[in-house]
Amino acid sequence: MTVITTIEDLRVLAQKRVPRMFYDYADSGSWTEGTYRANSADFQKIKLRQRVAVNMEGRTTATTMVGQQVAMPVAIAPTGLTGMQHADGEILAARAAAAFGIPFTLSTMSICSIEDVAAATRAPFWFQLYVMRDRDFIERLIDRAKAAGCSALVLTLDLQILGQRHKDLKNGLSAPPKLTIANIVNMMTKPRWCLGMAGTSRRQFGNIVGHVKGVENMGSLSEWTAKQFDPRLNWGDVEWIKKRWGGKLILKGIQDVEDARIAADSGADALIVSNHGGRQLDGAQSSIEALPAIAQAVGSRIEVHMDGGIRSGQDVLKAVALGARGTYIGRAFLYGLGAMGEAGVAKALEIIHKELDLTMAFCGRTRVELVDASILLPGTYPLP
Ligand code: GLV
Repeated sequence: MTVITTIEDLRVLAQKRVPRMFYDYADSGSWTEGTYRANSADFQKIKLRQRVAVNMEGRTTATTMVGQQVAMPVAIAPTGLTGMQHADGEILAARAAAAFGIPFTLSTMSICSIEDVAAATRAPFWFQLYVMRDRDFIERLIDRAKAAGCSALVLTLDLQILGQRHKDLKNGLSAPPKLTIANIVNMMTKPRWCLGMAGTSRRQFGNIVGHVKGVENMGSLSEWTAKQFDPRLNWGDVEWIKKRWGGKLILKGIQDVEDARIAADSGADALIVSNHGGRQLDGAQSSIEALPAIAQAVGSRIEVHMDGGIRSGQDVLKAVALGARGTYIGRAFLYGLGAMGEAGVAKALEIIHKELDLTMAFCGRTRVELVDASILLPGTYPLP
């Protein structure tokens, strides 16, 4: 077996072990996938400045995100259907994150429910909220997150309608998967995955099925989203959600400086510069390209976080250099989960941490608070 030393190694293994429908769901973007690819590719264009003979002893990657201690400026992003990459995936990833000392964010569209994750873990996790037409359900969801002791609410603002994801449409994505001939044939080549799924009862959307009137089976994700997600979501909703929640609030999906200003005015604790991993508006700029202008415009009023394209600790460091107080990994942890379950997520975190620590040291910094754009080579990084 190959020795795993990079996130790409985990991706290759995940592709072998996870049924195509779910692997494709994680590892794809919308339309031409141009924005999806740019998220990673734009990181590669940014060059670092090496410094030498700087005392590197006693360095640390520890910092805070929304006032909470984190072992590195990285949180696990909310990702839908995580429990389909590996049986009980949300629980396993939450445990790996807690052991590492970083936040885990549970998606509204998770397989394991809020209550299941709370019962199976000790550290408080974050909860991500999608706003649906059924506002009673949303209020109950917020209350359930509170009751579970979640320590931050991540409100997603960029997915009231779903971007066209051609692979999902072609694969007929659903949870649990429909037992078509093609799916059965594909699943027969993934014995570990099947064994795991046979050993859990969590195979549907745990936060939703049984909690929304009349929803016993959600069928295809795209149809369900179109019917249930509320396209009327607006900044007024942010206000009542903030009030009902009453704790740390993070607004996810900001791309534009004007929206960032409104987000800062809303009194939220943080915003996430994000294009939803290139899964929504294809043709939008990459996250790392959008970050500097937003950090400059509102960074003194609200914590600016970012996600999109992070596949290494070097990417984390570049985002921090361009004004991100924290970052999120989605696919990078999903590959680990699909490859090796909890151990795979732990491995992904270890890989990213090691790359971050070493790169920070090579750039002559001993703490993330000392990292700014001066570690980057002028002319190679996006300006505000
Ligand atoms: C979110 O749930 C997504 O599929 O991007």
